[in-house]
Amino acid sequence: EEERTLGIIKPDGISGNYTERIKQVILESGFEISKEMVIQLDEENAANFYAEHSSKSFFTNLIRYMTSGPVLVMVLEKEDAVARWRDLIGPTDAGKAKITHPHSIRAMCGVDLEKNCVHGSDSHQSAEREIAFFFKEAPSEDAVGKH
Ligand code: CMP
Repeated sequence: EEERTLGIIKPDGISGNYTERIKQVILESGFEISKEMVIQLDEENAANFYAEHSSKSFFTNLIRYMTSGPVLVMVLEKEDAVARWRDLIGPTDAGKAKITHPHSIRAMCGVDLEKNCVHGSDSHQSAEREIAFFFKEAPSEDAVGKH
């Protein structure tokens, strides 16, 4: 089924000049980039986006990282986009990805568990919520009240 997901090139991906290489992989993998926007997140934006992690020990560092420079936010469309984009980016820990998923995007441009250079929504519901967060769409019926 045709689906959409949210992809983000994080500040280390942008500052490391990986944007064009990442987009090339996205397009070669059959995704359409239907919306994109470069944005500098402030602390409030980032804390809202990562609200589910607010009690985690790494939250403060995560907010500092995600506000350290501009990010590129993209809506990616394809059959089973959520799962296929997560396949393509590889595991959260980019250091491990270099060993276990050497062809993944995180292996290409990430560093470690925090600086993993890209984001991908973890479910269909998260994708719709995250797309609405950045692109100010009214949340779709199936994303309301679910996680
Ligand atoms: P992502 O899975 O896209 O969204 C949550 C982010 O928090 C994750 O990418 C990492 O950037 C960061 N993160 C997750 N776990 C840790 C951790 N244990 N220590 C530091 N950062 C983390």
